[in-house]
Amino acid sequence: MKKKIGLLLAMLAALVMMVGVFGNPTSAQAADSSLAKIQKKGVLVMGTSPDYPPYEFQATVKGKSAVVGMDVKIGEKVAKDLGVKLKIKSMSFDSLLVALQTGKVDMIISGMNPTPARRKNVDFTHTYYKGGYEIVINKTDKGKYKNKDSFGGGTLGAQTGTTQYNAAKKQTKNTKVKGMTSQSDLILALQSHKLDGVAMEKPSAEAYVSNNKQLAAIPSNFSMSSSATSSAIAFRKGSTSLVNKVNQTVDQIKKENLVKKDYLPAAGKYLKTNTVNTSMGHYWKAFLTGIEYTLIITVCSVFFGFIIGVLLALARLGKGNFLKSLLRWIATAYVEFIRGTPMMVQVMFVYFGLGLFVNLPALTSGIIAISLNSGAYVAEYIRGGINSVDIGQTEAARSLGMSNGETMRFVVLPQALKNIWPSLGNEFITLIKDSSIVSIIGVTELIYQSNIVRSDTYRGVAPIVVIMVLYFILTFTASRILNYFERKMQHA
Ligand code: ARG
Repeated sequence: MKKKIGLLLAMLAALVMMVGVFGNPTSAQAADSSLAKIQKKGVLVMGTSPDYPPYEFQATVKGKSAVVGMDVKIGEKVAKDLGVKLKIKSMSFDSLLVALQTGKVDMIISGMNPTPARRKNVDFTHTYYKGGYEIVINKTDKGKYKNKDSFGGGTLGAQTGTTQYNAAKKQTKNTKVKGMTSQSDLILALQSHKLDGVAMEKPSAEAYVSNNKQLAAIPSNFSMSSSATSSAIAFRKGSTSLVNKVNQTVDQIKKENLVKKDYLPAAGKYLKTNTVNTSMGHYWKAFLTGIEYTLIITVCSVFFGFIIGVLLALARLGKGNFLKSLLRWIATAYVEFIRGTPMMVQVMFVYFGLGLFVNLPALTSGIIAISLNSGAYVAEYIRGGINSVDIGQTEAARSLGMSNGETMRFVVLPQALKNIWPSLGNEFITLIKDSSIVSIIGVTELIYQSNIVRSDTYRGVAPIVVIMVLYFILTFTASRILNYFERKMQHA
């Protein structure tokens, strides 16, 4: 047993070293070719977290939900000046830096402050905007809270991975600081009195307040360095030629004061339309897209997960020679490891970690991660099912001259599947719900779409109720269909 644990630890150490050694290109490699690479590729992928109006947020443009805001206008100008197309990739703010370092995006424009801690891992352009920080509260609490020091005994919210989250943690006393990945969730928590205030940059605070009469903004009084109150564009470490080129655009934006004269007013127009038609029926296309992607992920994951499960189950039942024992050991280690790590971590590892070696789209990464996860659980169902088939069946088949493979394929597996059909059905239903996990890497399934509708309409609870009903319809319909086939199998 000790030998096996040693071997497993050695394998894990090798994997970690591989990612460390190959994960980050040396600055020499990246410095010379960064600009040429982008211009050769013809596309500049911008990473952003569209929950931060007026920097970046979702709005309905010509009947379709789109990412808009001053950072998008800046991204469009940067791409135009580079002579390439702009592609926007949305994800949670705390996923942006790892997405940049693993090559999922080429730059981050997301109201990001060029702090010294971030400069250790990425390069920033000159700053393009200078904000400041406020705290959004419920208007009914206007007299109660004055600034960050008024929240003693209360709870202050801030987006995880941000400057304001760190400031709230370090500069408040006797205050519980609650981090959430989405700014929209923070506002929803504030409105449902789970939080007493939400710290964010001033332009964003003013945007939320202008769209929601029940909210108000107060000064934060955070003491922040200049780099913590400015915004800049982030590029991979060592992208010197690209940063120098984009700095020309940033300097022009500042010289012509385009943010104040053009980009913020343009964002303001979309902010107003958000409150025009906020009925959930208006967003039926978004929810339909969410259902489509949820079903694609579920069906693919069940299919590939089942194949992986059968192979793992057969491997775990193997015995006799060295190869079968090795396969049994590998299958056992895989099942234990997958069942011992959270699916969210597995999704991020496949998308970002494997992204160091092969650039997989978010949807493909999500399906791979969920299939690998499901396979470990299905393997246990199938192994249990095979073991539940009376040994006499195998003996009878063998006595008729059937080989081991034929016995397994034509006698044991069909009976095993009949026994484990309910468990496989539960796995399918579970995957319909678990598929929502891929929203963290920007796959547009139901949860992702509800976040879009929430940040588009500034309505917190309604989108949640809609997707609850939609998930129930999907799982209830699936269970009815599975029960129908189970009854057919029982009478077969
Ligand atoms: N300026 C802060 C930071 O850089 C917050 C940015 C949040 N941006 C967003 N799109 N949610 O940490």
